[in-house]
Amino acid sequence: MKFIRTEDYYQMSRAAANIISAQVIIKPDCVLGLATGSTPLGIYKQLIDWYTKGDIDFSNVTTINLDEYKALSPDNDQSYRYFMNENLFNHININKNKTYVPNGLELDEKKACDDYNSIINSVQGIDLQLLGIGHNGHIGFNEPSDCFATETHCVDLAQSTIEANARFFDSYEEVPKQAYTMGIKTIMHAKKILVVASGENKADIIKEAFFGPITPKVPASILQLHPDATIICDNDALQKVSELI
Ligand code: F6R
Repeated sequence: MKFIRTEDYYQMSRAAANIISAQVIIKPDCVLGLATGSTPLGIYKQLIDWYTKGDIDFSNVTTINLDEYKALSPDNDQSYRYFMNENLFNHININKNKTYVPNGLELDEKKACDDYNSIINSVQGIDLQLLGIGHNGHIGFNEPSDCFATETHCVDLAQSTIEANARFFDSYEEVPKQAYTMGIKTIMHAKKILVVASGENKADIIKEAFFGPITPKVPASILQLHPDATIICDNDALQKVSELI
């Protein structure tokens, strides 16, 4: 695993955006695996900026997102499809027909997962997978568990997640209770992995995931086995491992 230390969140975002942009320049028809959450926002902002200046062309890029809430429509502002459109796709010259997010409106779990696996298989491999990391070591919605789930699957959201999300909805009934997520095998098959983390509240999990034992109880720990994984963190996120890297 390669660690890149940056001064702050802004520099972390620029370093990650540089690697993504290099990937697009080297292989204009590449497949990017993308993440939602707060950490990638600075990366997407930087990519939009470079696109606006004419430095990157996304017209031949395909994207595959990690996850989506079950039963949320793409125009619900809490859906990950909405997030990706708002924070990246609407501002660059990507062909939206080649941007994939699990279909939250497909309530048949098997069909939703099979369809997403078929899409993933049809693109012949993810060239670069961007990942954030949860405080408990989750990647995508692969939560701590007794085993690594391999391909796209439906997960029951933790009660704490449902309660935290409740503030974004008019009623508790509307809060998603399940989500579809890419599995660990698919993530591990990406040719390149790019993990981003910022802030001291990620310092403990960075140490546990990347310097502790490999275990499904800390899903991100499996990335220690990936042949080409780069972890970009700011000083705050690396404060518990300074002597180890
Ligand atoms: C997002 C995702 C999640 C986040 C993780 C970190 O698609 O799958 O695993 O990457 O929860 O979220 P932030 O960046 O908000 O700390």
